[in-house]
Amino acid sequence: MQKVLVARPIFPDVIERLKQYFEVDWNDGDVLGADELQRRIADKDGALTAGDPIGAAVLAAAPRLRVVSNMAVGYNNFDMAAFNAANVLGTNTPDVLNESTADFGWALMMAAARRIAESEHWLRAGKWEKWSYDGFLGSDLFGSTLGVIGMGRIGQALARRARGFSMNVIYHNRSRVAPQIEAELNASYASKEDLLRRADHVVLVLPYTAENHHTIGAAELALMKLTATLTNIARGGIVDDAALAEALREKRIAAAGLDVFEGEPKLNPALLTVPNVVLTPHIASATEATRRAMANLAADNLISALGEGPRAGCPPNPINPDVIGKARS
Ligand code: GLV
Repeated sequence: MQKVLVARPIFPDVIERLKQYFEVDWNDGDVLGADELQRRIADKDGALTAGDPIGAAVLAAAPRLRVVSNMAVGYNNFDMAAFNAANVLGTNTPDVLNESTADFGWALMMAAARRIAESEHWLRAGKWEKWSYDGFLGSDLFGSTLGVIGMGRIGQALARRARGFSMNVIYHNRSRVAPQIEAELNASYASKEDLLRRADHVVLVLPYTAENHHTIGAAELALMKLTATLTNIARGGIVDDAALAEALREKRIAAAGLDVFEGEPKLNPALLTVPNVVLTPHIASATEATRRAMANLAADNLISALGEGPRAGCPPNPINPDVIGKARS
């Protein structure tokens, strides 16, 4: 029987599915450190990860390894050059999380714009004594301009929801999306700078790559409106969190909603000291149904990439399909 490592706690019934095909080494405890990960993966044919860093050293430590299946759409934890050099397949879990993640983007954006977390903390602290005309004034979403940076599947799902709020949608992306998608979303393309100047609410939905590091830093924040909000449901590192904390403290933008952070699960302590930011622990895809769908899709990818199950040899979501069928190097 082939051997697989499941590097993180996941739904036990998904482990049972994997056990139909493999000998499963399941880490149902704390996140594995680099040494422990290398030790546990060394004799495996495949692995299921969720954000665990997999680079050349891990692949070299595991000469039989043919596939690493990430339970996430983002795979910036994979060094894809190392995967390609070693002929190891990487897979991810796109699409099944689009709608839940887009919903959550709206939840954070609305919470930031309408100061929901900030006012709730104030209320819980027993500070509410009277109604006041200027208590927690926020900014409107209805009729405002939504700026989406990253118009992939999740960006489009997010933009689609803007119709109900009569919003003007502008977007920035590596390349323009097809004209029929622009028409359906009533979205127009803008340069990053133009978008930052014009949008009332900016949402980041782009993948994290070396070139996207600090897409939003001090210079970009300075372009935004004083009344604008910034929401990050993409990845830590796309925003310069120190610069954002500073801009929020100085009210150079109105508010932010953040689900992802540089260096998470640790976060820049300055973010904890500013009131006008809503902070959530990387839960944009976290509904029961969606996390189950992601876990099962990650299992499907692992099972089929290792030549088992109904789709043997044809994993649904290969990131680097060119290595399929090539000998491990
Ligand atoms: C979550 O962050 C994902 O990439 O799926």
